[in-house]
Amino acid sequence: MSTKTGEGFSSSFGAIMAAAGSAVGLGNIWRFPYICGKYGGGAFLLVYICFVFLIGMILMMSEFVIGRRTGEDPMKAYPLLRPHRPQWKYVGFLGLVTCFLILAIYLVISGWTLNYFWESLTGTLASIPDNGFKEHFESFASSTFRPVIFVIAFLVFTTLVIIGGVEKGIERVSKLLMPFLVVLLLVMCVRSLTLDGASTGLAYLFQPDFSKLTGEGVLAALGQALFSLSVGMGVMIVYGSYLPVDDNILKTSVWITICDFAIAILSGIAIFPAVFACGQNPSEGPGLVYQVLPVVFNSFGNIGRIFSIVFFLLLSLAALTSAISLLEALTQWLSGEKIKRTPSAIIMSLMVIALAIAASFSYGDGILSGMKIGGMQLFALLDKLTGTLLPPICALLTIIFFGWFMKKEDIMDELSNHGTLGIGYFKVFYYFLSRFVAPAALLIVLLAGILG
Ligand code: PFF
Repeated sequence: MSTKTGEGFSSSFGAIMAAAGSAVGLGNIWRFPYICGKYGGGAFLLVYICFVFLIGMILMMSEFVIGRRTGEDPMKAYPLLRPHRPQWKYVGFLGLVTCFLILAIYLVISGWTLNYFWESLTGTLASIPDNGFKEHFESFASSTFRPVIFVIAFLVFTTLVIIGGVEKGIERVSKLLMPFLVVLLLVMCVRSLTLDGASTGLAYLFQPDFSKLTGEGVLAALGQALFSLSVGMGVMIVYGSYLPVDDNILKTSVWITICDFAIAILSGIAIFPAVFACGQNPSEGPGLVYQVLPVVFNSFGNIGRIFSIVFFLLLSLAALTSAISLLEALTQWLSGEKIKRTPSAIIMSLMVIALAIAASFSYGDGILSGMKIGGMQLFALLDKLTGTLLPPICALLTIIFFGWFMKKEDIMDELSNHGTLGIGYFKVFYYFLSRFVAPAALLIVLLAGILG
């Protein structure tokens, strides 16, 4: 089947770059290093690797199969594969709602990042004393207008790429940015590893400390694996619907997963050795990037300013290709016969910006910080919902659908490209993982997280 809009990626390489662009984002560079350090370094890494390759990658393949088989958006794809069970469309709907919420919070953090890129360029960050970064970040993030301006600027870039189309917008931008991003990251790694005291940072990242790996840490590893691979909310169903018919889904998924994992590890290598070498405290949580790293960059003198520019550019570009995939999922769903791509993208952008602005106002001492939903500020609530709760629920429902409700012949036909590719023993392994291992693991970790 072909996509409803007739759009798609032009090649497997383009598809890999676009999907890796979705996967590699703030989750890898901003989130992975600090939660890895927080929950026991190497101990967290072991659990994380299992979740990434046994659950995340399987989900990615499943979403690609569902997407390419139907050529439809998540809400239509499920019922198309299971016509007498139309209620499966609600899984697609839940995924889209999750995308919407993630995009809102993602835009706020991307706006911060863009502001820091700007302040690196203009020299503002370089002029702040070491003990002033905490206050600088808090007063910036809690202020009313400045963060919003950067959020809007970021969303405008994202929307323009979506309006450009799947091949000429998303694919082209991803093919350009992803290799550039890897080069920037490698430069940062080399600098960090050649500093005196780098080995302490590496030990913090890799040495296992099982006493820190709590139940909460295991749930965080699962949430992070799903978030980082962009699976569980239907985005890969959308990109799956754009995959070329002769693309080898198994290979493509393996490449994207390896790329995403490698970039998370490289980010840790770029950040921690430098943080330790400068005598900073790494366990600063989300503040690591906005409060600790600028101190590290300033300690490098003039060259530090260049590294600061490079780092915040890297983070902004990684966030851009991820935000693109989230907005594309929402745009694909809305667009059709009646509403074309451009108005769909604009409508969705306007809707999501409203929530993003409210979330920004609720942060810190912002003007909406007094407004509590379920006892939480809006920003914290969105962070919790999208970080650990909704993605595992959506992922569980997706994998149950795939393992238990989709026809086995359809799955094998899609994986083997209509019989033209041999998938040998892998299909037994794959089927076993998707039917038993992944759902059981998702269910256990989810229940443990909710009850514990
Ligand atoms: N994978 C992205 C990251 O690691 O930053 C975030 C993301 C993008 C999550 C797209 C979910 C998604 F559908």
